[in-house]
This record gives sequence, structure tokens and C-alpha cells, in this order.
Amino acid sequence: MVFAKRLGIPLKTIRTNPGGQLDPSEILGRDELIQRIWNVLEGRCVYMNDLRRIGKTQIMVKMKAEPAPGWVCVKRDLGRFHSAEEFARSAFEDSAEVLTGGKTVMRKMADLLGQAGGLEISGVIKLPDGSPAPWKEVLQRTFQDISESVAKTNQRMLFLWDEVPFLIDNIAKRQGEQVAMEVLDAIRSFTQDFDKIRVLLTGSIGLHHVLKSLQQKGYMGSPLNRMELVRPGPLDPNDAIGLASYLLQGESIRTDDHQACTQFIASSVGNVPFYIHKLISRLPKSETYSVQRLGQILDSELADLNNDWDLEHYRVRLGEYYREDEPLALAILDAVAVQSKMNFDRVRSAVANQMTVGEEKLRTVLKLLCKDHYLEHSHDGLYQYYIAVIARWWRISRDLKELE
Ligand SMILES: Nc1ncnc2c1ncn2[C@@H]1O[C@H](COP(=O)(O)OP(=O)(O)O)[C@@H](O)[C@H]1O
Ligand SMILES: [Mg+2]
Repeated sequence: MVFAKRLGIPLKTIRTNPGGQLDPSEILGRDELIQRIWNVLEGRCVYMNDLRRIGKTQIMVKMKAEPAPGWVCVKRDLGRFHSAEEFARSAFEDSAEVLTGGKTVMRKMADLLGQAGGLEISGVIKLPDGSPAPWKEVLQRTFQDISESVAKTNQRMLFLWDEVPFLIDNIAKRQGEQVAMEVLDAIRSFTQDFDKIRVLLTGSIGLHHVLKSLQQKGYMGSPLNRMELVRPGPLDPNDAIGLASYLLQGESIRTDDHQACTQFIASSVGNVPFYIHKLISRLPKSETYSVQRLGQILDSELADLNNDWDLEHYRVRLGEYYREDEPLALAILDAVAVQSKMNFDRVRSAVANQMTVGEEKLRTVLKLLCKDHYLEHSHDGLYQYYIAVIARWWRISRDLKELE
């Protein structure tokens, strides 16, 4: 059983659920980060960008379950929309659902939609004459209506919009880059115009990849540059160890040393909660586990070509994102995977063994690998993998030996 933390009863056990939607009481840690986000939202919008599976969506779930006083929240995964019209419709309908008075308080929208109230056909709101309601107009009127409505109750509205880069990419593919650019601009300008409304956006792929092609087509704006950029990262080590402990207990898994095993599980997967859930979900109940045995199981999971740890895309997407620089990205990632921490000179000489490359090009690609959260560049100038388990998988999948 899971007990709600807010009832003051400590969590004792949690069942594994890698990649599933968790009950808010099962979402561990993140409290400081969430508090920081609420503080930032007082003044501006937030863009939360990090690797997929790091835990962004669960942060939103927790924020929506326990909003800061005075906030009304709507959460929506935008990645499944493919047009600006679907996006605008969801903003309108989701808001109507949470505002006191529902659609009746959305007067500007009612004026637009007339008597029929915006008959909806295949995901698009229609005007009285049967034509599709212009998405920008829907969005603007929705924002106006929200603003007026929440002002009356002295509240504010927060849109928790998950996976914005996928929305932008989807729209670019279906409706063209121009429309994609306009959607980004609309989000930026409406959130600036309406002080009662904030957005918290997330992205698992860098918007810079989506924007790169948009920029080549002449888009000059940087839509998110007024937003606070937040990278949640893995859990704090103590929360990760706590999660491992609750999960081991929830799954009734025996160890020869509970503390050593929970510490190993957390650190070997870089304190990422998804991988903690994943590893523990793979442990047969028949055994009693030692740290060494856990390491073997982790490695055999990572070596399994049919594994569902969702790691293969770190290799596959290099082709799409780095194009002609893919071989260079691979050479860098191979080098850092075996040496763990390297300064620029050592990266350069390791890469020079594989290929000839100009220094500026090397710097550019290294920077991009950091921006895409493969690597981290520490303040003392060392490069290493951002997430330990990705380095571990990279070595296994590419038959590389870690150097001492
Ligand atoms: N704070 C947390 N506590 C416990 N488990 C978590 C937490 N955050 C994420 N998880 C686990 O990781 C999985 C992926 O998290 P999710 O929020 O969907 O990642 P993202 O949105 O960044 O791709 C969840 O389904 C859950 O199993
Ligand atoms: Mg998510």
C-alpha cells in the first residue's frame, strides 16, 4: 500500500511502474525544485528541458495535484497534437473545464462561436458558418476569457504544457514551418500580454533542433528567451536511494545488505527514477541480491538488444540531429565513455586518433552534445556523461572497455 505523504504517514512501499503514470504520493523528491518553479512562475514562464524519462511529466503531475495557493492548473501533453487548431482547441476546452463557471464565463469565445457553441468536428472548432475557427483567434480570446475569469476570484492560471517541441515539429510537418513559427510566437506574445496566465513548458528534444530547420527558413525569433530555463536532472541521491528502498520493499525483494544495494541501484543508474523502477522490476523474487549480482543483472539488461530501457534512441537520433557530424559525435561519445572525465585536450587527441577534425568544429559538436544532455561540461573544464547509465550502456552496446 502507498500512503499519502501529505497525511503525514511515511511512505513505506511502492510497486514498480517504469514509464507509467504515478499517483502523486508515489512521486518522490522534487519538492525544492517544485518550490523554485512556483517562485519563478510569480514573475515569468518556465521552460523545462531535459532528457526523456528523467521525470518531467511527474513533476507536472505533482504540481497539478498540489498547486501553490491561488493557482488553477491545466495539464496537457501537446506532443499528440498535429495542428495549431487542435492545440488552440485544447487550450480553450481545458480552461473551460477548470474555470469556475466553465464555458459560460468564456464570453469572448462565446461571441466568436455563436449559438452552436463551436460545434466540434474532427478535432477542430467550427464557426457558425461552418468554417474552422482561426486558431490564433481562439487562443487569444481564450486567454482574454481566462484572464477576466481568474481576476474575479483573485487567482492565476497555469498551463502545464508537456512536450512542446514535438507539437512544433508535428505542426511543421503537417501545416508547414510558417504555422509552426506562428504558434511559438503566439505562445510567447500571449503569455507576455496576460499577466494572470503563465505556462510551464517541457521538452525532451532540444527546441534548437526543431528551430534549426525553422531558422533556415527565415525564422528569427527566439520564442523562449524570456522564459526561465530549468533542467530538473536526476533525483537527489538520497531521494533516489529512498525510491530504491521503497521499491525493493514494495516488490518484496531480498538483499544481503539493504543499504549497500539501494545505494548501488541509485548510483549505477545515475539516480534517474525511471531506471531505478526498471532495474527493480527486472529482479526475480526468488533470489537474494548482492551488489555484485545487481551489477550483473544491470549489465545483462543493458546488453539485451531487445531491452526496453529506451536507450537506443540516444544512438539513433545522432543521425537525424548531427547529420554529417554524426561520425564526429560518435568519436567524442566513444572517447568520453571509456575515460569518464576528460578535458578538452584529451578529447581532441582521442578524436584525432579516429579522424581529422578542425578545432572549432570539435568545439561546436561538443557544445551540442552538452546541450542535448549526452555530456556535461563541469566548471573545472571536464567532460563526462550526464547520466551514468547511458555511459554504461554506450560501452556495452559498442564493445568499449572502460579505462582505469
Ligand atoms: N519523482 C519520481 N519518483 C518516482 N518515480 C519517478 C519520478 N519521476 C519519474 N519517475 C519514474 O520515471 C518514469 C518516467 O518519468 P516521466 O515523468 O514520464 O519522464 P519524462 O516526462 O521526463 O519523460 C515514470 O513513469 C516513473 O516510473
Ligand atoms: Mg514526459
